[in-house]
Amino acid sequence: MTKSYLRLILVEFFLIGLLAAFFLSNYYTEDCLRVFIAWAAKLAALFFSLAFMASSLACFIKASWTADLVKYRPHMGLSFMVFHSAHLIFLGLLQFQFHPVFDLAARKALMGGSLAYVFMYMMALTTFPYFKNKLSQKTWNRLHLIGGWWIWLIFFRSYFKAAIGRNEEYLMFAALSLVLFLRLAYLISSRMKGGSSTD
Ligand code: HEM
Repeated sequence: MTKSYLRLILVEFFLIGLLAAFFLSNYYTEDCLRVFIAWAAKLAALFFSLAFMASSLACFIKASWTADLVKYRPHMGLSFMVFHSAHLIFLGLLQFQFHPVFDLAARKALMGGSLAYVFMYMMALTTFPYFKNKLSQKTWNRLHLIGGWWIWLIFFRSYFKAAIGRNEEYLMFAALSLVLFLRLAYLISSRMKGGSSTD
């Protein structure tokens, strides 16, 4: 399992690096870099949403594709980590080459974003069996539940602002809203059945 996870991470970083090298070597401008920042966050949000809503979806739609969604949750979680690491790397380029984004960012937003990255890397690390087995199932569930909801909140807030403030990104806002709806429906239905919904 560890080998397939590492292969996935390396291939995705290689492809992102190739694409960025091609475009940024030809059009190394602030606007082009901002397109990479926004698209890295968008693809990260899509992989995150698929991983975070997989079990809720599989609870309501019994089909091979929802079962596969649950089976490949670790791969989608790690893909989220790769694309959102690219978001951070491109932000670093923006900071040092064009615009001091970290200096100008509101302290609260920076702290919220940084905490999301801490959760993201802890969740990615504990996806690997070696580190997962070092935690109790309860601690692992708690880390991935609290971390998942915190990351969801930052994405939801970003796309809520884009939808309301700029009349853009309605699809992404709808995707993050669907995740909320499915997880709450899953929580309520499992509580009504007397179970728990920690995954
Ligand atoms: C740690 C510090 C972070 C900083 C300084 C930061 C900064 C930025 C900046 C400057 C943009 C706008 C790029 C542009 O379109 O011009 C952006 C976009 C975005 N960021 Fe981050 N970000 C951070 C962390 C995060 C985190 C942790 C998340 C989600 C978990 C996130 C989600 C997004 C999303 C979804 C967009 C696109 C929003 C849109 O299209 O309007 N960011 N970020």
